[in-house]
Parts: sequence; structure tokens; C-alpha cells
Amino acid sequence: MKVIAFNGSPRKEWNTATLLKSALEGAASCGSEVELVHLYDLDYKGCTSCFACKLKGGKSYGRCAIQDDLMPFLRKIETADGILLGSPVYLGAATGEMRSFIERLVFPFFTYTDPPMSLFPGKVRLGVIYAFGAPEEMAIQRGWDRSLPETGAFMERTFGPVETLLVYDTLQFDDYSKYVATRFDPVQKAVRRRDVFPQDRRKAFDLGVRLVQKSTK
Ligand SMILES: Cc1cc2nc3c(=O)[nH]c(=O)nc-3n(C[C@H](O)[C@H](O)[C@H](O)COP(=O)(O)O)c2cc1C
Repeated sequence: MKVIAFNGSPRKEWNTATLLKSALEGAASCGSEVELVHLYDLDYKGCTSCFACKLKGGKSYGRCAIQDDLMPFLRKIETADGILLGSPVYLGAATGEMRSFIERLVFPFFTYTDPPMSLFPGKVRLGVIYAFGAPEEMAIQRGWDRSLPETGAFMERTFGPVETLLVYDTLQFDDYSKYVATRFDPVQKAVRRRDVFPQDRRKAFDLGVRLVQKSTK
């Protein structure tokens, strides 16, 4: 049993990474081998439209042909039982690095046939975690709670069941007094970090547990 998590935040010790670590702890508590990959450590780009993954009789048919830092991880995913993706919300979407990663992860396995088919050779469950700086009401008002999980529909068609966890109103800085950020109440942020973030971590832990327990491999 193996679960791999991909951190789409440039920060290795903050909200997204912490939530992913909790999810991996959950997976490990069920006996799974776990690995955390920081996407910002890797040198890669998004899909380059080379279409080698769609070329009739091509040696990379159904696989991404780009040789870069992502390649070993794209191969590893084929034998994983669970994948976790975590990203901060940047301008209402996943970070650029996470988007680029998802393009490379999903597109090669997705056929241009009618109906589309998945060429993914195995079975894998996915957990996706998004960390919002905004409070839940603002995210709902702007439609982010609905638009972000839409990418999950592509992943679901390719890999299998996807579970999404949305975590709101995160702490962005250690010390709010150092930054021009008057729209945030530092006291409210500190209280939320103390009282709600541990619950969010628990939800991430439980997601990791479910990822392993529901694995059909
Ligand atoms: C460039 C940038 C854009 C952001 N845009 C949004 C946004 O559109 N909505 C939101 O809720 N939070 C936004 N945030 C806040 C982050 O999503 C939030 O602080 C998140 O918890 C950061 O994750 P990390 O701590 O793992 O780095 C933005 C932060 C940055 C740096």
C-alpha cells in the first residue's frame, strides 16, 4: 500500500503542507507507505501540447513524453494506491505549479475518443485539499467552493473516486502587524488557528484513512 502526496504550495511548513502531512499520517496509521513531494522543488512545466501521448502507435501513447523532474513521479503514480494533492487557493484557483502538474498528470491518460476513455493502467483513489485564506462565506459568495472541485471531475474520470477537502480562513503570516493587511483581524485569525485548524487537520487525517481503507487494490 502506497500513498503519495504532492504539495502545490511554495511553503513547506505552512497550511497546505501541514494538512497533507496530517492526511499522510492518517494513511500511515492504516499501514500505508507514504511520501510527500514538494512540487516547488521540481523543475517542470505544464503540458506542452506535443501530443506524443495521443500519437497512433507512438512509443509514448498514453504516457507523458516530457523528460523532466516530474517524470519519475508520474511513473510512480501508476503503482500507487492513493494520491493526495494539496494547493493553496491563488486568485480563485489552484497555484500555477499545481495546475501544471494536473495537466501532466491527467491529460496523457485521457483519450480524445467519444466517449472519452481512461488509459490509466491501475486503480487509484484521490484526495484533494485546498487551503483558502478567505473565510467560507466569501469563498461561497465568489463561487470558489464550486469552481475548484470541478478539476476533480476530470481526475475522477481518469483515476476513480476523488474526495475534496476545503479548508477556509487560514493563517497567512506569523505576525500580522508586520504586513499591510488591514482587512484581516489578527486576533480572529489567531483564535481560528488555535481552535479550528486542529479540526481541519483531523479532517485531513480522516481523509488519509479513507483513502487507504477504500482502496480496492
Ligand atoms: C498569490 C496569492 C493569491 C491568493 N489568492 C487567494 C484567493 O484568491 N482566495 C483565497 O481564499 N486565498 C488566497 N490567498 C491566500 C492563500 O490561499 C492562503 O493563505 C493559503 O492558506 C496559503 O497556503 P500555504 O500556507 O500552504 O502557503 C492567496 C495568497 C497568495 C500568496
